[in-house]
Amino acid sequence: MARRRPWYDIVFSPLQGCAMNVVTLTGLRGGAGTTTVVGMLGDALHALDQRVLLVDLNASDLLRMHFNIPRSDSRGWVTTLFPAEWRQQACQLDSGLMLVPFGRKAIEDSGISHLLQGDDFWLQVLPDLHRDFDWILFDCPPYPHRLARALRFRSTMELVVVRPDVAAQELLTQIDFEASSYLLINDFDPTRRLEHDILLDWQHHYGTRVLPQTIYSDESLPEALAGKMPVTRHMPDAITSQAARALAQWCLSTHHAAD
Ligand SMILES: Nc1ncnc2c1ncn2[C@@H]1O[C@H](COP(=O)(O)OP(=O)(O)OP(=O)(O)O)[C@@H](O)[C@H]1O
Ligand SMILES: [Mg+2]
Repeated sequence: MARRRPWYDIVFSPLQGCAMNVVTLTGLRGGAGTTTVVGMLGDALHALDQRVLLVDLNASDLLRMHFNIPRSDSRGWVTTLFPAEWRQQACQLDSGLMLVPFGRKAIEDSGISHLLQGDDFWLQVLPDLHRDFDWILFDCPPYPHRLARALRFRSTMELVVVRPDVAAQELLTQIDFEASSYLLINDFDPTRRLEHDILLDWQHHYGTRVLPQTIYSDESLPEALAGKMPVTRHMPDAITSQAARALAQWCLSTHHAAD
């Protein structure tokens, strides 16, 4: 179903013609593995010499954990009043790889409501980013969500992270897809017949929207989290690391095709 252009799509200037890619990653529901995917895809893109910014829009503020940023570090964008000051809240992970945590601790310390900021904060920051970054990956709260709605409209690519189960089957019928929306299947266990049937059904129904880089169910992912690093660093040869690299390659080729 085609959506009406919302006000923020009209108010904020378009990013077309700019080489930067804005990717929103959203779980179809909670626990789909979105934060895990943001961490490994960001790291895989960076390994391909891309300049990457990761932004956590979740109040749970767990993306930091994938890069060993301790809870005691109170950096985070959500209590920043002025978008121009976002860099003061960013953590430089590597040359060309930066993460902006949500800032849960700052909220707890200050008592400021996290509802103070919406994603229009990042809409205002975006024009300032294209000189320094090739990819901005937003770890968005799961559907349905208030935060990140405007960003979804402004993104150049939306990845909906989904575990293949019957509940997801039902929920998929309830969301609207943009032309640039793709389904990324995570935690797939090919030995389970039902999951296999669901995957085939989605491939039939959603066609090329279903990315071929399915991420298998794999212990290496929780293990990497225990090691506080993306699986692409923790176990570069794991099947999930290979999937992350394939996904990063696909992002690059899709991006270049769109240029
Ligand atoms: N493919 C996978 N195989 C095995 N475990 C996985 C897989 N993907 C994610 N997990 C595990 O599932 C748990 C939840 O993952 P994650 O935090 O990334 O989900 P999320 O969608 O971001 O959750 P939330 O909606 O709460 O933000 C983590 O322990 C992670 O290691
Ligand atoms: Mg998450």
